[in-house]
Amino acid sequence: MPQCSRQKPSWTGREQMAHSDTPTLQQQAERLREWRAGFQAVYVIATGIQTGFFDQLAAHPQGLTAQELAQRTGCHTPYVAIWCASAYRYRLVDTHDGRYVLAPHIDSLLAGQTHPDSQAALFLNVVRDAGPRLAQHADYMKSGTMGSHAEAYGRNPIRLDPPPNQEALQWRLWCEEMRPRVPTLNDALRNGGRVLDVGCGPGLMLLQLAAAYPTASFVGVDVVELGGLETARRLIRARGCESRIHVECVAAEQMTYAEAFDGVLITRVFHEIPVEIRAALFRACYHALKRPGVLLNLDFAYPDTLEEFRQPLFWSGVDNQYREMVWGTVHPTWQEQHRMLTEAGFTAIERHFVPQIPQGTHYLAVAHKR
Ligand SMILES: C[S@@+](CC[C@H](N)C(=O)[O-])C[C@H]1O[C@@H](n2cnc3c(N)ncnc32)[C@H](O)[C@@H]1O
Repeated sequence: MPQCSRQKPSWTGREQMAHSDTPTLQQQAERLREWRAGFQAVYVIATGIQTGFFDQLAAHPQGLTAQELAQRTGCHTPYVAIWCASAYRYRLVDTHDGRYVLAPHIDSLLAGQTHPDSQAALFLNVVRDAGPRLAQHADYMKSGTMGSHAEAYGRNPIRLDPPPNQEALQWRLWCEEMRPRVPTLNDALRNGGRVLDVGCGPGLMLLQLAAAYPTASFVGVDVVELGGLETARRLIRARGCESRIHVECVAAEQMTYAEAFDGVLITRVFHEIPVEIRAALFRACYHALKRPGVLLNLDFAYPDTLEEFRQPLFWSGVDNQYREMVWGTVHPTWQEQHRMLTEAGFTAIERHFVPQIPQGTHYLAVAHKR
């Protein structure tokens, strides 16, 4: 009988990897099982938010049986019992005297939705919006069809009102990440300074700043009305801030402000700006700033090197890039951003990692006009 004559594969990648940390087949299989379990955990969590299970458990720290939870939420007891068991398996709940209680910190993260660390809106967004889009990626790969970010704001009803924890989150960002790094801007704001928020969306950062600095004034620009500027105008009116916050529909790269602001903020916007107009946006920001002035650009941390793709610090950027590619997102690397800032005229450019954001680690660029 001739021996099986299967040729050895000629690909050499494996040989190059063949050292002590080369995973076994079993380890790779286990990793795949974990991703699959994680996928299901997302749905268990989203269901717990949508049904009010987490809220009910948060309201009853002494615990609830599956039957009590089902009664309080108007759900089918046998299914609720299976949900509870799954939530226990995922360490979302613990048990105490035969009743289910929330596991540590799950109340802040998934119940109530107002805590700055709340991830509830993100889980709902994943199952309602991102999931169906991701399921079509095989088609997108072939067609290369590109949508736009405006779809997410203007046409998606769940984005019309900002998630309930956004104001607390913006305030924490300002107090803990931004303000300590820009003392000159803080002083200017205390003395009637002016700040521009580029891509202000519903204007939540402007509202926080207006409340904290009663003599300062603010301008916000954005291109989306529904879910963006419309919401901003409504909130500005409701809080009586019309005389100090002005928002307008202007594309960031077309702004013509000159020497008008002590600070410019760009928060979670830059990755949405088309690559070919990013340099113009930084130039417009530089032009808009007084001297001295400072630009703060907060966005997902995206890797510069292949090695960084496997570093957790950059996973929020890597994952967002995949999730939003069909909207035209192209995340800038730090080096690209640094080069564009320098070419626009900015100096003393710093990068700070910002871990405390529910979406994952971001970085904050601080760049000066001196
Ligand atoms: C993820 S949201 C962030 C909103 C807000 N800065 C925040 O942190 O909540 C991105 C915003 O950038 C706006 N945007 C995108 N491209 C823009 C452009 N060329 N000019 C002005 N705004 C833009 C979007 O309309 C959207 O409101």
